[in-house]
Amino acid sequence: MKILVTGGAGFIGSQIVDRYLAAGHEVVIVDNFESGRRENVPAKVRCYAISINDNELAEVIKKEKPDLVNHHAAQIDVRKSVEDPATDATINIVGSLNLLECCRRSGVKKVIFASSGGAIYGEQDYYPADEKHRMEPRSPYGITKLTVEKYLQSYHWTHGLSFVALRYANVYGPRQNALGEAGVIAIFTNKLLKGESPIINGDGEQTRDYVFVDDVVACNLEALKPEVRGIINVGSGIETSVNQIAQELIRLTGAKVSPQRGPGKSGEQKRSCLKPGVLQKGTPTVLATGLAKTVEWFKQR
Ligand SMILES: NC(=O)c1ccc[n+]([C@@H]2O[C@H](COP(=O)([O-])OP(=O)(O)OC[C@H]3O[C@@H](n4cnc5c(N)ncnc54)[C@H](O)[C@@H]3O)[C@@H](O)[C@H]2O)c1
Repeated sequence: MKILVTGGAGFIGSQIVDRYLAAGHEVVIVDNFESGRRENVPAKVRCYAISINDNELAEVIKKEKPDLVNHHAAQIDVRKSVEDPATDATINIVGSLNLLECCRRSGVKKVIFASSGGAIYGEQDYYPADEKHRMEPRSPYGITKLTVEKYLQSYHWTHGLSFVALRYANVYGPRQNALGEAGVIAIFTNKLLKGESPIINGDGEQTRDYVFVDDVVACNLEALKPEVRGIINVGSGIETSVNQIAQELIRLTGAKVSPQRGPGKSGEQKRSCLKPGVLQKGTPTVLATGLAKTVEWFKQR
């Protein structure tokens, strides 16, 4: 199958590209390298360094004629979305719409979309949240993810475009950017390997569901099957506090430091946990195993 991956130079997208290639698919990438890295792009893959907002995208999709588009390009920083919701919406909503229009016009059959369970459900009524949980996104970022899901449903009903929206928990693993605001595991690992103390905002008892990137990539491979459609969670079903993450990473890195305390972030979600979805075969990767692989990767760099 020919697959176009947007955001294919990024943390998750690039590992999906690798897995698709290993499975024998032809892959092309669209990525403007806002946070993506050249080193993540395999030499044999054609990569268009443009934005999903560019008019040029139509030419690329018309020329490449992919069977399926896997859409991972996005503004991913929740805090930036609060500071500048218009820019966030321009990339995450208007850019996604530009992509969907190009797909419709060029006869793309299916779209896989990287959505966010962590951001869409909001403060949860029950734990772990399944896909039927009410949706009350708190951040502009969460609103954009929910909006794109709604557009996908509309394109399905109106134009017959098939789609899968994968609602990720907090994804972690090799290649995650340690310099941004997203990705506490990457940020802490990077600091600890430099002998610096990780900074925990608030009391550190806020919980998240941490899912290893390999599990996420496996779901993106499953999602290629024509019979797989609709909205599907990708999580571990386990809540872990920031304090626990810090302790485990201090143990794994052997750093001789203690976490520092910073002010809590106003409006920050207290707890989040997703029920693993139907595409997750077997038990999700155990946190200690995923963290050990992540630390190893950061050490190699
Ligand atoms: N990391 C997580 O925990 C998580 C959780 C839920 C959903 N997601 C979603 O998964 C996707 C990938 O996230 P990631 O963590 O790999 O982040 P990332 O920043 O590594 O990947 C995003 C990629 O998109 C590219 N990009 C950004 N804006 C673009 C634009 N306008 N046009 C073209 N390319 C653009 C970046 O250069 C980067 O390569 C995003 O859609 C994100 O919202 C991530």
